[in-house]
Amino acid sequence: MSQATKVEKDTVPQVGAGTVEETSVPAAPDIRVVGDTYRTVGDYTSANPVVRARNVDVFYGDNHAIQNVSLDIGKNQVISLIGPSGCGKSTFIRCLNRMNDTIDIARVHGEILLDGEDIHARRMDVVMLRARVGMVFQKPNPFPKSVYDNVAYGPRIHGLARNRQELDRIVRSSLERAGLWTEVKDRLDEPGTGLSGGQQQRLCIARTIAVGPEVILMDEPCSALDPIATAHIEDLIDELKKNFAIVIVTHSMQQAARVSQRTAYFHLGRLIEVGDTDQIFTNPQHELTEDYITGRFG
Ligand SMILES: Nc1ncnc2c1ncn2[C@@H]1O[C@H](COP(=O)(O)OP(=O)(O)OP(=O)(O)O)[C@@H](O)[C@H]1O
Ligand SMILES: [Mg+2]
Repeated sequence: MSQATKVEKDTVPQVGAGTVEETSVPAAPDIRVVGDTYRTVGDYTSANPVVRARNVDVFYGDNHAIQNVSLDIGKNQVISLIGPSGCGKSTFIRCLNRMNDTIDIARVHGEILLDGEDIHARRMDVVMLRARVGMVFQKPNPFPKSVYDNVAYGPRIHGLARNRQELDRIVRSSLERAGLWTEVKDRLDEPGTGLSGGQQQRLCIARTIAVGPEVILMDEPCSALDPIATAHIEDLIDELKKNFAIVIVTHSMQQAARVSQRTAYFHLGRLIEVGDTDQIFTNPQHELTEDYITGRFG
């Protein structure tokens, strides 16, 4: 048995709800194990990066959920993260604004730079980091506050407005950029939780935008929405990329193809392949990527 084969066999990760056999994923083809690691296929760098993640590992106790992942997030671009359930997509994006810090058993290793600054540096203010790298979740989660106060909350705690007029301007422009203003301008004092699901998700996007982020992380932002609300959010993502870098986790390959310029395919905690979205969907280089996008597993 060659050394490479032995290493591959010994390091098949036990990640996710089941082992490879239990989830009936076909026997892992070439995962390109080199020594005790593997090589991502494609170019994980970006010409104009806002985030540079290098050699990132995440452990939940003994579970090695992210394995040596390096990836740039480019400015004014949307990158989709795709892959089977449990492959580490949410875990990886939570690294980018240190949300994994909130999980006791999570340990993150590796280097993550935001505009060249180490996000794990002692002087990094985590509250500020999470404003710069905002997050929108799968289930819309407005605060139990008015529509206005949902959006005004971040600017208030970060002292972004000197007076009420300035705050009004930030709230209005954030709601406009989130494509929600005309629907809520007469309901600003009503509870955010009283809006429809799609409106709530746009409210959460407005809340994220209000503090002037550089990156917006979206973890399956449309999975609780109907097709019309989904189309609305997708149009919005296209508009938002003019000002922000966007990372979207999605289980919909159609959505990834519609909204993103780059796509990254994760499998069992590893970043298997990354490239231009068109190339990933029409000409994947790795067998695992091909199997996933052709629906052979996942
Ligand atoms: N808070 C947590 N505590 C312990 N283990 C976790 C936690 N969150 C995720 N994991 C584990 O880390 C691995 C990756 O999970 P993660 O949620 O990142 O996958 P995912 O790709 O986002 O999956 P899905 O598509 O189902 O959302 C899984 O084995 C999961 O069980
Ligand atoms: Mg997830």
